[in-house]
Parts: sequence; structure tokens; C-alpha cells
Amino acid sequence: MNIYKINGGRTLRGSVEIDGAKNAALPIIAASLLTKDVCLLGNMPKLKDVDNMLLIAGHIGSNFDCDITNSIVRIETSKIINSEIGYNLAAKLRASFLFAGALLAVNGYVKIAMPGGCDIGLRPIDLHLKGFNLMGAEAVKDGGFVTLNAPMGLHGAEVYLDFPSVGATENIMIAATAAAGKTTIKNAAAEPEIVDLANYLCEMGADIVGAGSDTIEIKGKKQLRGTIYNIVPDRIEAGTFMAAAGAVGGDITVKKVNPVHLEPVTLKLREAGITVEEGSDFVRVISGGRGSVRPIDIRTLPYPGFPTDMQAQMTALLTQANGTSLITETIFENRFQYVGELNRLGAVIKLNERTAVVSGVEKKEKPFLTGTAVEATDLRGGAALVIAALSAKGETRVCNTEFIERGYSDLAGKLSLLGADIISYREC
Ligand code: UD1
Repeated sequence: MNIYKINGGRTLRGSVEIDGAKNAALPIIAASLLTKDVCLLGNMPKLKDVDNMLLIAGHIGSNFDCDITNSIVRIETSKIINSEIGYNLAAKLRASFLFAGALLAVNGYVKIAMPGGCDIGLRPIDLHLKGFNLMGAEAVKDGGFVTLNAPMGLHGAEVYLDFPSVGATENIMIAATAAAGKTTIKNAAAEPEIVDLANYLCEMGADIVGAGSDTIEIKGKKQLRGTIYNIVPDRIEAGTFMAAAGAVGGDITVKKVNPVHLEPVTLKLREAGITVEEGSDFVRVISGGRGSVRPIDIRTLPYPGFPTDMQAQMTALLTQANGTSLITETIFENRFQYVGELNRLGAVIKLNERTAVVSGVEKKEKPFLTGTAVEATDLRGGAALVIAALSAKGETRVCNTEFIERGYSDLAGKLSLLGADIISYREC
């Protein structure tokens, strides 16, 4: 088990550099299957989820090398050798299902185990399958597997998504890029990672317009080419550092970001009384920490609404506010598992269906969170525990940080450089 040992109460100061976005890197790796040529992917984050995505790509037939020093991955899929992805691989991460669209498009067949990933809700795949179906594929679910067949190849279609699912938008966009004719995705997700995937596909020769809006049009291409592409900065990693500085106080500069992508977080932090200055590729966060933060209400929504992936970190921050905040989760039905662990640290959070009622500190002198042992149960919930531990008095051991390492590259090291007292170690 991996553990972070954190001595709380230190303000954060200095600067931190943000890596490439996990949620852009994963679909981009899957989309690389659409060409036989070499693709060079820059700004690739060093994450467990990326390793697992590449492992699956390798199983399918991709050759890849990782230049870790320069964050570059070279990937080439001259031949598909495996169109079946078993449970052991697919269960490693939710994004494994993004290989379905790519394999279906280039191979006309894929058999893949139902995807795994963080346990934050049911996470069905019906919208992905609806899209593939409309594009001419037949889907059969059996024994925990989905088999997709399109012996005549995929054709363009009009696909209306009943919810702007990020994964379904990406999977359908990847498949449509290599399908015959035009596909329109209506009520598409508009997250920056969708735009990044579309930009990557266009660099490979695809014809895609409208990514970033609710309607995306894709004209299928027979052949795509290799390219060199830099992955967009991770707005959730950046937002996590911003929330951490807001909670414990201090003055940090978060570098190598796109401030436009951070706007929902920036605006809510300002509402909470935290200063956020924006530069061309950085944000500076200045906060007085505990007791100087104002309570706010948050409702998670599809982009450009407030990101569900920042919900837990903001809840941790608002335990330091001088009043009561309401956090409502509308995207996933089981995304408050970490709340019990925050309460073990002394937070006062009540759950009322999909809303967390967070009682903050009324007075700055009042002792509040106190260090103890807590356990991460998912990626962002784990990050919330780290923020709470940084704000708590005394020592906290955050266990099972493997969850955190799925989506943060060296979180402990980066926080340590900002002045936090945090060490990462492994216990058998
Ligand atoms: C992606 C992100 C994840 C983020 C989420 C929402 C990646 C690798 N992961 O996950 O970090 O939290 O977007 O921003 O990019 N749904 C259906 N049917 C479907 C698909 C989804 O009902 O076929 C529902 C889900 O149950 C959920 C909602 O749609 O309630 C949003 O899910 P979705 O946008 O698909 O999230 P992911 O792509 O899994």
C-alpha cells in the first residue's frame, strides 16, 4: 500500500508546473490506432492510467516507447494483432472502452470486457453503444463482455446523446473519423479534452468541426496520417493545487495551464474570497486560509459548468470556510464516498442525497481538522483527503494513494516543493 504522511498547517508558497491532461491523453492514445503511421505525443503525463492505456494499446498491436524525461510517447500501430480485450486489461481503467470506437472503425470487430475505473457511480455505456449502433454496428452484451460487429464497415449517422457524456462523445468521434460519410453528434460534451482530441484527429487529417460546442460534425476519412501533438494542460491537476492553496493559505503560481479552461474553478474560488490572478499561461492564487474563506454553494455540471472532477477538492477547501456551504453533485450518483474520511479528520459534513452540507469553521481560533489515518477510495476523493490533511493540525496518513497516482504525477513531490510537509512511502 502506498501512503502519504502529511504534517498539516504549513502555508503553500512558490510555483508548480502542471502536466498534460490525463483525460485528454487517454482518448488520444486510443485514437492513435486510426493510423498505421508513427504519432509522437508530447506533454504526456506520467500516470498509472497512461501506463495502463499503453499496456492495452500494446496488447492490441501498438509499438510504443516512452521518453520519460521529455514526456514524449512514440506510438505506432502498423498492424492490429488483437481485437479482444479481456477483463484483466479492461478493468484497469474506464477509458479502456475508448479502444472500442477505434477498433470498430479500423477492424469492424471488437470484443471488450465491461470497463473498470474509479467507483463513483454506475457508469453505463449505453450512449456509446447507441452511437455505434446508429453507425451500423451490432452490439451484443454477454458474460461481462460487449461484442461489436460492423462487417460492412461503419457509416455516418446523426447521433443525439441523451446526456453530454464525455466518453460517448469521444468514442463516437473516434469511430466517425474513420467511418464512411458524415456523422453529427448532437448534445455532445464540450469539455476541453474533447477539443483536444478533435485537434489531434484533425492533425492526423480528420475533418471535424464544432468540437467544444454541443454539435460536432465529422466527415469520415479513408486514411489518416501520423503526427506530432502536444497534450493540453490538466485543468483538474491545476484546480487541485488552486484549491489546496485556498484551503491552507499562501501564495502560489500554477504554471503551464490554460486559464480559460480553469474559469469555472477560478470564479468559484474568487466567490469564496480567494484571490486568483490570471496570466497568459499561469494563474496565481493568494489565500488567507482557514477562516478567511467564505462559504459558497457549488453544483457540478457538464463543461463549462463546474467540473465534477473538482467537487471533492472544493469540499475539502470549504471545510475551512467561515460558514456553511452546499455542494451538489449532478453528474455521478456515488461521488461522496470520501466524505466519511473527511469527517474522521474532524470535518462536519452531512449528506442529503446528492448534496453535501459542509459546516466550516465559524471562528479562526477554533481548533478544526485534526490529523489521523484516512483511506483514499477514489482518485479525486483521495486528492480531497490530501487537501484536508494539509489543512489539519498534526500528522495524517493518507492510505491507498495508488488511487491518487492514477491521475496525479508526483503530487507529494510537487506539494513538498511548495512548502508542504509531505512524504510518500510504501508499506507492505
Ligand atoms: C469522463 C472523465 C471523468 C469525468 C467525467 C465527467 C475521462 C477518462 N474521464 O468520464 O474524469 O468525471 O468525464 O466529466 O475522461 N452516462 C450514461 N451512459 C453512457 C455514458 C455516460 O448514462 O453511455 C452517464 C454517466 O453515468 C454519468 C454521466 O453520463 O452519470 C457522465 O459520464 P461521462 O461524461 O460519460 O463520464 P466519463 O466519460 O466516464
